[in-house]
Amino acid sequence: MQSQAGFMLEASLDKLREVVDKYKNTKGTTIPILQDIQECLGYLPEEAVTWAADRLEIPRSKFFGVATFYSQFYLTPRGKNIVTVCSGTACHVKGSAKIHDRLVRDLNLAEGQNTTGDMLFTLEKVNCVGACSIAPVVIINHKVNGKASASRIAQQVKKLGSAEGQA
Ligand code: FES
Repeated sequence: MQSQAGFMLEASLDKLREVVDKYKNTKGTTIPILQDIQECLGYLPEEAVTWAADRLEIPRSKFFGVATFYSQFYLTPRGKNIVTVCSGTACHVKGSAKIHDRLVRDLNLAEGQNTTGDMLFTLEKVNCVGACSIAPVVIINHKVNGKASASRIAQQVKKLGSAEGQA
């Protein structure tokens, strides 16, 4: 059976080829190449990264080294909606763990799972996002929610799920 990454790569190969070939004969461009692949596919499937590395004759290890070092890169598929709970000290003190726990429950996420099976939500934790004065902070699809409460965030997430006809 074909892997999801294999399917994605095959479906997007023409687009990917276009993206990658822009970088032929350029040096030191690992980060922009990975950014463009991720933009094209939504994440960095292993198969796409090895394919690009071979095509550009760049060592695969260099690509994977960079992809795993920077938090902006995702090696697994992400959900349509990204919910990011800040777990820095100020937010933790103000109860961010409670919000995270509530979302884990509401989204039915198993231990170690951060994306829902229907690919609608990815739940992430990050360290301080630089808005400690409005802690606890939860970012939903780039929108910053300050002084967040578990119930208000849960409501917003439920609304997003309903809008997709899933909740
Ligand atoms: S600790 Fe959450 S914004 Fe600073």
